[in-house]
Amino acid sequence: MSCPCMDRRTCLKAGLAGLVLSGAGGVFAAVNSLSSPVNYSPSLVLEAGAPRDFLSTAMHDFQVADRRITVVRGDEGLYALVRNCTHMGCIPSFNEADNRFHCPCHGSVFNLAGDVLRGPAPAPLFRAALAVNSRGAVEINAGQQDNDPQNRNRAPFLLEV
Ligand code: FES
Repeated sequence: MSCPCMDRRTCLKAGLAGLVLSGAGGVFAAVNSLSSPVNYSPSLVLEAGAPRDFLSTAMHDFQVADRRITVVRGDEGLYALVRNCTHMGCIPSFNEADNRFHCPCHGSVFNLAGDVLRGPAPAPLFRAALAVNSRGAVEINAGQQDNDPQNRNRAPFLLEV
């Protein structure tokens, strides 16, 4: 093969330079992929809407990663009930007739606050943290949860809006 526009020596140098550059690019890509890990896990923070969207007593359901969350307006403010059952993780559904959550898997029943009314669930439903973010929207943080009755009725598990 010949290069019509260059002499043989120049052509060889150009070819070597190309090989070195492509090799360096490959090494850079490999090192870069090792030093900057990519996070493929879904976000645990969700912007749920404007505070005015939650003025009524209607419940609002959200999926945040693997958690099913219902935002409820209680007497003192909003709270985000994580509906993953504390027994084995099934999703209790809300029954309007008795105002309770019923787990379809083994029959646990929870009240609107998330307390266990009937087992085998061993503990109340968790609550996720709520906040109004810098854009003025209600934000659910499912990465911060608590089901201790001492903690759940204050920030960040209760949002007064
Ligand atoms: S998973 Fe809900 S009662 Fe078992």
